[in-house]
Amino acid sequence: MEALVAAFIIAFALFGNCLCVEWRHSAVLDNNFLVLWTPGEKDVTFEVQVKTLGYVGLGFTKDEGRAGADMVIGWVDNNGQVHLQDRHVKDASRDPQMDSSQDYRLLLGYENKTHTVLRFSRRYDTCDPRDLKITNDTMQVVWQYHAEEPVSAAGVLPDHGDVRGTRPLYLVQRDAQPRRSSRNQEPETPLKIWDVLNQQVRLPMEEDTLLWCRVLEMPPIRRKHHVVRYEPVIQPGSHEYLHHMTLYECRGSAAELETAARSTGGVCYQSGQPTLQCNTIAATWSLGSEGFNYPPEAGYALDPHAGPQFYMLETHYTNPQLDAFISDSSGLRLLYTERLRVHDAGVLSIGIDPNWRHLIPPGQPEVVSEGHCVADCTGQTIPNNGVNMFAVIMHTHQLGKKVRLRQIRASVELPPIASDTNYNPSYQEYRRLQRPVKVYPGDHLVAECTYSSESRAAITLGGLTTREETCLISALYYPRIELSLCYSLPSLPTVLHSLGIQQLTPNSSPVKIQAPPELSGLTLEERLVSYDWETSFQSFQEATRSGTFKPLCWSSRGDLLPGTAQLESRYPRIITPYKEPTLPCTKKPTQNKFSKLLSKDGDIGSPVEPDSDEANAVERGQLVRSKVSRSSEGPIAGSSRTRSVSVALVVAALVAALR
Ligand SMILES: *[C@@H]1O[C@H](CO)[C@@H](O)[C@H](O)[C@H]1NC(C)=O
Ligand SMILES: *[C@@H]1O[C@H](CO)[C@@H](O)[C@H](O)[C@H]1NC(C)=O
Repeated sequence: MEALVAAFIIAFALFGNCLCVEWRHSAVLDNNFLVLWTPGEKDVTFEVQVKTLGYVGLGFTKDEGRAGADMVIGWVDNNGQVHLQDRHVKDASRDPQMDSSQDYRLLLGYENKTHTVLRFSRRYDTCDPRDLKITNDTMQVVWQYHAEEPVSAAGVLPDHGDVRGTRPLYLVQRDAQPRRSSRNQEPETPLKIWDVLNQQVRLPMEEDTLLWCRVLEMPPIRRKHHVVRYEPVIQPGSHEYLHHMTLYECRGSAAELETAARSTGGVCYQSGQPTLQCNTIAATWSLGSEGFNYPPEAGYALDPHAGPQFYMLETHYTNPQLDAFISDSSGLRLLYTERLRVHDAGVLSIGIDPNWRHLIPPGQPEVVSEGHCVADCTGQTIPNNGVNMFAVIMHTHQLGKKVRLRQIRASVELPPIASDTNYNPSYQEYRRLQRPVKVYPGDHLVAECTYSSESRAAITLGGLTTREETCLISALYYPRIELSLCYSLPSLPTVLHSLGIQQLTPNSSPVKIQAPPELSGLTLEERLVSYDWETSFQSFQEATRSGTFKPLCWSSRGDLLPGTAQLESRYPRIITPYKEPTLPCTKKPTQNKFSKLLSKDGDIGSPVEPDSDEANAVERGQLVRSKVSRSSEGPIAGSSRTRSVSVALVVAALVAALR
């Protein structure tokens, strides 16, 4: 009972005399499991509300497997006593084991007729190697619960029948719902709704992926409005088939767009279709995202007198089981208002132009590719007061492992605007920066993507299909400027140099290599096929990073900025590199009754040496029961088949490009 009393005292001390807390974030992990949390200065406070009277568990890990997960397990026993245990998963097929250092602090716990509620906090970095640091990276959240609770305080979990799952989430840089206005604030004007929906798209029975594009005209409004929030509208039952939806602004021929808007859409990017200029992102939803709220100072402008009048919704469907007769009418809901905010928000896309010259050698654990938004582009378009970036979304295809948006100002590298060292291509959501970051004219931005190509036997090229790769970062900012896409493309000499080619024989057909002498006479095809990535990868990587590139800065009207098309640029000079601060870890373990009882970091499937009379013989008897959980692992997102581009295809692209 004392633990419970203590918990209440802590809760009161922290939150005043109200047990209600304003939670900044929440996520429904499964229909019975709600987690709420608030990232604080040094700690993160969580509350789990689970529809069970048994035990509940919440944990964090880096990848989709359970092994290595940092978990907290808790329950409310028949005496009303609340138990909370810091554990870790050593072996995914067994129960999480007790940590010797208990770093989760119980704040509150109770159960009612149906639910168990536990509130606890922990430091971002507990300094316990058994725990996982909570960072800005994508975190894999693990959950587990059971209809029954452990029979003893030592917490041997009941056999069979637990429910588990795992899901990627941003815990820190996460978009938050706007605070509900309290009574004394003036009532919000109701938001208008623009539903951008698909209309009964039938998923093919012979393909596991469908990219569907539908063009729509903007709502019939007379004057400028601001979109302040958007959210997915998911047809019941369609959740498992939706991978992402992106709404693009369209420019170009109004007649073509009008024609396109009359149909209910078609398969995207097919040859033979008119190529619509729908490139600037207006809104995007991806697996796991619950929508996006603009900050109070900015909104996305819908303006019948300026800006795009047509939009294209691109929906990426997946149907790995090839389920038959699936038809979907999901889409996005944009909520807009005529109460304009101070700033128009824009989306700036930074990265590598999706093009075959973006080469990713096969079989490598780490390939770094960089797309540059050069000082000349920001210099021409960003006003002297700068723009404020407040959210970013990172985008690679299947090989992406890490993504950073770097900022270089006058040869000084500033801290990255955003960085994810645990990037997960199946979880792409806007990352809300804690504070807007200023970008000034003359800043050089680098979209840096790190890939692992170990799963590929052949080279991967840049491009738009899922088997090709991309390195793109979309940044939301205000006030809106004319710059829309800020890309770069490796120059041809850079590509050739990265393949160890110094010179081609002029006018040769097929294209032949002249220098260096050891490659002389080889055709380009022969060079690509015979290139020894194993030993030459480092020089390839070096040549790619230090070589010249062509900056491509597109305005939102679809033109290249004057002067930028002819430039060849180089990597910016960095005199002062950015150094990641390393904070020393000072550990203050909080020992509770149970951690003292179980201060061995042992397997809890084996008997625990009790250190007090409380752990009586009955308990010991219960502790020796076997604890191997037989439930299967939770659902794992995406069953993407690994595809690789054939060398023949690559060679064809290279040769075609050289001609
Ligand atoms: C029990 O608590 C949960 C979580 O707070 C709540 O959603 C539910 O309505 C409560 N049920 C009852 C019967 O009070
Ligand atoms: C997340 O990033 C911001 C800005 O770069 C930084 O100030 C903050 O400390 C980071 N948070 C964590 C938990 O690492």
